[in-house]
Amino acid sequence: MPEPLLDVRDLRVRFRTRQGLVTAVDSLSFSVAPGEVLGVVGESGSGKSVSMLAVLRLLTNPNVTVSGEVLFRGRDLLALPDKEMRAVRGREIAMVFQDPMTALTPVYTVGWQIAEAIRAHEQVSRKEARARAVRLLSDVGIPDAASRVNAYPHEFSGGMRQRAVIAMALSCSPSLLIADEPTTALDVTVQAQILDLMRELNAGGSAMVLITHDMGVVSQIADRVLVMYGGRAAEEGPRRAVFHGPRHPYTWGLLDSVPRVGGPRLRRLPSIAGVPVAPGGVPEGCAFAPRCRLRHDRCEERPVLSGDTHLDACWLPSGDRAGLRVSARDTEAAS
Ligand SMILES: Nc1ncnc2c1ncn2[C@@H]1O[C@H](COP(=O)(O)OP(=O)(O)OP(=O)(O)O)[C@@H](O)[C@H]1O
Ligand code: SF4
Ligand SMILES: [Mg+2]
Repeated sequence: MPEPLLDVRDLRVRFRTRQGLVTAVDSLSFSVAPGEVLGVVGESGSGKSVSMLAVLRLLTNPNVTVSGEVLFRGRDLLALPDKEMRAVRGREIAMVFQDPMTALTPVYTVGWQIAEAIRAHEQVSRKEARARAVRLLSDVGIPDAASRVNAYPHEFSGGMRQRAVIAMALSCSPSLLIADEPTTALDVTVQAQILDLMRELNAGGSAMVLITHDMGVVSQIADRVLVMYGGRAAEEGPRRAVFHGPRHPYTWGLLDSVPRVGGPRLRRLPSIAGVPVAPGGVPEGCAFAPRCRLRHDRCEERPVLSGDTHLDACWLPSGDRAGLRVSARDTEAAS
């Protein structure tokens, strides 16, 4: 196993709210090897964004506490002085968020913003930075980049803005890109183009953490998959293993909710019954228990994420999970 690029250990994020202290991310551990793509999936509220914002130290709210370790090339980012952290962000780790306007300022031209991002990390002249911005915009497929470089963000379409943000991320050839739902707001054609760009970035050696609701996207691009539920890891493993032999009942639900092309047809398309847990309402034992058809006495105790390369946090016997999945589905269909 190569030394991980990013090694997150026992990450915990708590918010102080009017209802008391709530844990949005609980004992989350995962790692990303150099050049690897980790897909992070889970329903809304499962803690995907909050955990990555914590990794990047972008949770600045005074009511939040973050604990654990975020080792990046062996250095704990949570313990780094602000100045060094700023240098890591942007130069070594780049981010792309769902809403590209988070990264763009409306009052400056797109080209100026990309050029400044370059100049923040490299000593190049304004002219050289601008020329690079034009090249980058052209690389991400913005037509007529030489003149579009002078446009303001609102003069770009949503897809073009997202490309501009990716161009900014590309400008520093990051060793890690964290992308939070980068394609969700876009139509299918643009989505495919953005995914191609991300693949290119990955082919150039950048590792990626890709957060998405879309199992289809994960199946196309991820090397490994982390499934989150209730702020915890439910399952983690190589993409093929997770898609072909999912082990956690929650992952079964996620996969069964995806319309299939080709694969075995289900009698009906189930979604996961029940509502996702909210932080504050996560049970002591298994977080998924209130929605799980296979819960049993032991589930009142919290399952630990265990396994070798394919891990899951569930008390079901480790043997025939495929058989259990079928029987759970049959109970679901009968009810
Ligand atoms: N500032 C905050 N104060 C209190 N709770 C918060 C705060 N920010 C986020 N949370 C809670 O943390 C939980 C995890 O949120 P997060 O945004 O990480 O979910 P997510 O998995 O990214 O969901 P989505 O798929 O909708 O983006 C949510 O229940 C959210 O309400
Ligand atoms: S630990 Fe129990 S409740 Fe949780 S997913 Fe497994 S069987 Fe279901
Ligand atoms: Mg989110």
